[in-house]
Amino acid sequence: MAQKGKEENQSVSRVAIYPGSFDPITYGHIDIVERSLEIFDTVIVAIAYDTSKNALFTVKERMETVKAVFAHVPNVVVDSFKGLLVHYVENTNAKVIIRGLRATSDFEYEFHMASMNRSLNPHLDTVFMMTSKDYFFVSSRTIKEVASLGGAVEGLVPGLVAKRLRQKFRLPVTKKKALGWDD
Ligand code: PNS
Repeated sequence: MAQKGKEENQSVSRVAIYPGSFDPITYGHIDIVERSLEIFDTVIVAIAYDTSKNALFTVKERMETVKAVFAHVPNVVVDSFKGLLVHYVENTNAKVIIRGLRATSDFEYEFHMASMNRSLNPHLDTVFMMTSKDYFFVSSRTIKEVASLGGAVEGLVPGLVAKRLRQKFRLPVTKKKALGWDD
């Protein structure tokens, strides 16, 4: 009986939702998605309309960018949602929410959010992944600040994102870009 249950479980596709603002997507986010695909069959990157943050890019622009970034990864689905995250998740076949943790400073916010989501729906769990050491200092907020002041963000975000940031802030190409760095 237990064996049958195990076999049944093995045929069930494991889907996880990775929600966020992704304003813009960074290599830190991409690292979390890639590592999540080692555990889950499908990862849905879900871009929220409703967050406490003022966005630089529209949800449409963020969808385009994230889709382009994962164009070569069939197991990644890119979507957007309005309203509560738990309501969105309930309309998918996912049972798990993924969040990245960079530092202890993230913990309080994440703990509150995961606890509230679990209170709203006790059948949903949040799985936290520690950000890889190369990206623990990378956040969308600091990327936007550095880019807005003309700093180079190549190596921390995909080339397409660096390009979109320069366009948004109406900045000229960086020296690295002028020297022929790829998109
Ligand atoms: O990348 P972020 O900005 O840290 O992601 C925050 C996000 C989008 C996961 C959170 O704001 C969210 O879930 N928004 C949807 C509305 C909602 O469910 N709010 C209650 C969360 S306790």
